[in-house]
Amino acid sequence: MLQAHRPSIGAEELEEVRKVFETGWLGMGSQVIEFENMVKDYLGVRNVVAVNTGSTALHIALDAHGVGPGDEVITPSLTFCAGIQGIISLGAIPVFCEVDPDTLNIDLDDMAKRMTPRTKAIMPVHYCGYACDMDRLLGIAHEKDVVVIEDAAHAFGSTYKGKKIGSIGDAACFSFDPIKNFTCGEGGAVTLSDDSMADRIRKKRALGITRDSWQRQKKAQSWYYEVVTQGYRYHMSNINAAIGIAQLRKLEKFIEKRKEIAERYNAAFKGVKGIKILKWELREMAPFMYILRVNGDRRDEMMDFLASKGVASGVHYIPNHLQPFFSKYATELPATEKVWKEIVTLPLFYDMTDDDVELVIRAVKEFFGC
Ligand SMILES: Cc1ncc(COP(=O)(O)O)c(C=O)c1O
Repeated sequence: MLQAHRPSIGAEELEEVRKVFETGWLGMGSQVIEFENMVKDYLGVRNVVAVNTGSTALHIALDAHGVGPGDEVITPSLTFCAGIQGIISLGAIPVFCEVDPDTLNIDLDDMAKRMTPRTKAIMPVHYCGYACDMDRLLGIAHEKDVVVIEDAAHAFGSTYKGKKIGSIGDAACFSFDPIKNFTCGEGGAVTLSDDSMADRIRKKRALGITRDSWQRQKKAQSWYYEVVTQGYRYHMSNINAAIGIAQLRKLEKFIEKRKEIAERYNAAFKGVKGIKILKWELREMAPFMYILRVNGDRRDEMMDFLASKGVASGVHYIPNHLQPFFSKYATELPATEKVWKEIVTLPLFYDMTDDDVELVIRAVKEFFGC
C-alpha cells in the first residue's frame, strides 16, 4: 500500500543525533538554540521559541497572549483538534467559523460576522500550506484589538505576497511532527516579532523558571533558579532539534518535490468530471497535503477504490463542531458540513517515485472512468 504521508529521514539525521549522544546533553541545549537560529534565519523573524509539539505551540501562544476564561477565540471548524483543545484548556470558548470551499481557508466574511466584544483572538489555519489573506485578516482583527495567532502547522516554507509565513502576523505556530514539510520527530515553534511576548513564552515553556537548566549550567551557582510565572514543560529537546537541523538543510528540495507532485496532480485531474481541484496558488505554497474535492456522495467509495488499487488516502478533517466533546460549541456551518464530505487527501511526500505518482493518478482517473 502506498502511504499518504511519510518522513524522509536517514544518515544525516542519525549523524546529528549521534553528536547529541556524544555530548550527553539530551534535553534543551545548544542544538535547540542552533535549530531556533536556523528557523529564525530561514523565516526572517525576530524570535523563534522551539517547543515539543505544534499543539503546545498553539496552547502556549494563546496563553501568553492572555486568552483566558470566558474569552472567545474564532477558528475554522475544519481543522485539526489541537488548537481547539488549547482554547478550551484555558477556559476560553472556541467560536467555529466557515471555510471557503475553494481553498479550505478561513472565510473572512463569516469570521467578521462572528466577532463580538468577547472575541480575544482569531486562530486561522493556513490550510495545507496555502496562506490565508493575511492583509485583510489582520486588518479586520487589529481594528478591534483582536490578536491573530496563526495555526501555521501546515505552512512551514509557504509565503504570502512573497513573505514567509511566520514572519507576518502577531504570532505563528508551527508543527514539526513526523509528516510535516520537515520534521523534528516531534516538535513545534512559536515565531513572533514582539520581544517581550517572546520572553514570556520562553519562560512559560520552562515551567515559569527564569533560566532553564542549559543557561544555568554555564553560570556560577548553577543550582539556583526562580519560578516567576505559571508555565509548562513544553521545551524542545536536543534530540528533536538535531533531527530538525538535518532536515532543515534539505528543506528546499523537500518543498520543490512536493510542489512538483502537486502540479502533476493538478495537471492530471484538470477537467476530470466529478472532481474539483482546489484554487491554490502553488507558486507561494510549500504544500503539506494534496486535497481533491469529490462531487456528490462518492468520496468514501473513491477512497475504497483507491485502497483496492494500493493507494492510501485520508480525510482532513472531520469538522470539530461535529466532534462529541466539542458539541456544546456547535453552530450552523452549512458550507463546512457540505465540503468536508467531499474532501480526500492523496499521497504526497518527498520520497514518492514517479511510479508512485502515476499509480495515484491512474487510480483516481480509473475511478472516474477516464
Ligand atoms: C492544523 C494543525 N494544527 C496543529 C497541529 C498540531 O501539531 P502537532 O502534531 O505537532 O502537535 C496539527 C497536526 O497535524 C495540525 O494539522
